[in-house]
Amino acid sequence: MKTEKNIALEFNEFSKNYTNDMIGCVPHYMSLISGFVNSLPENFKPQSILDLGSGNGNVTAQLISFFPNAIYTLVDASSEMINLCRNHFNEYTIIYENKYFKDFSFNKESYDLVVAGFSIHHCDENEKQAMFGNIYNSLKKGGIFSYCDLMISKTNPDHKRLMQQWKEFVRINFPDGEKWNWLMEHYQTFDKPTDYPLQKDWISNAGFSTIEIGFREEYWVHLQAMK
Ligand SMILES: C[S@@+](CC[C@H](N)C(=O)[O-])C[C@H]1O[C@@H](n2cnc3c(N)ncnc32)[C@H](O)[C@@H]1O
Repeated sequence: MKTEKNIALEFNEFSKNYTNDMIGCVPHYMSLISGFVNSLPENFKPQSILDLGSGNGNVTAQLISFFPNAIYTLVDASSEMINLCRNHFNEYTIIYENKYFKDFSFNKESYDLVVAGFSIHHCDENEKQAMFGNIYNSLKKGGIFSYCDLMISKTNPDHKRLMQQWKEFVRINFPDGEKWNWLMEHYQTFDKPTDYPLQKDWISNAGFSTIEIGFREEYWVHLQAMK
């Protein structure tokens, strides 16, 4: 796989074997994705759900079996990813928005739950802060923002060690080294992870009252923030 020119084209290509590639390339992927259901409060029954960077729908797929009657809005820049979701979820009420986050209208107080799985690390620092503000405003009172990602900046002193550990994980799953080389090209071109403490500050600054970690292994984190 070669690296494409922009996020939309990159993920059109990545969509071909997406779930397998994620499980083999992202440590704890399935545990982090399970957190979108497992970490929710027991009595929380969302009726409107926004999935930011839905990809092929792995996060929505978790939620939809528990909340089949909710109205879902799926945003993704990649048309191929959106097409996979259209085929997969054709029996449910889904609004598809094939666009970049910056072009999506975050309507005020519209959602009970906003989810983002491994998508916000594609935004730079300013975009991230703007996203957290938009997410906060688009949630209803009592709503939840649920988010998983790699949460370490490339300048963190521990980044080098993490990369060694990550490389070993990928080598076990894809021994020929080709996948790791592609992943590192992708990481360099498209990924802009941010340290957890800084993101936590930005999420608090956006107005969220409580921020809880549902799952964490090293810098692979799932968190929930309540409005
Ligand atoms: C790594 S995938 C994550 C997919 C899924 N949420 C998951 O957890 O497996 C990231 C997705 O976010 C989308 N994406 C990244 N940056 C985006 C942006 N700025 N606007 C819209 N979509 C974006 C990509 O097209 C891709 O489908």
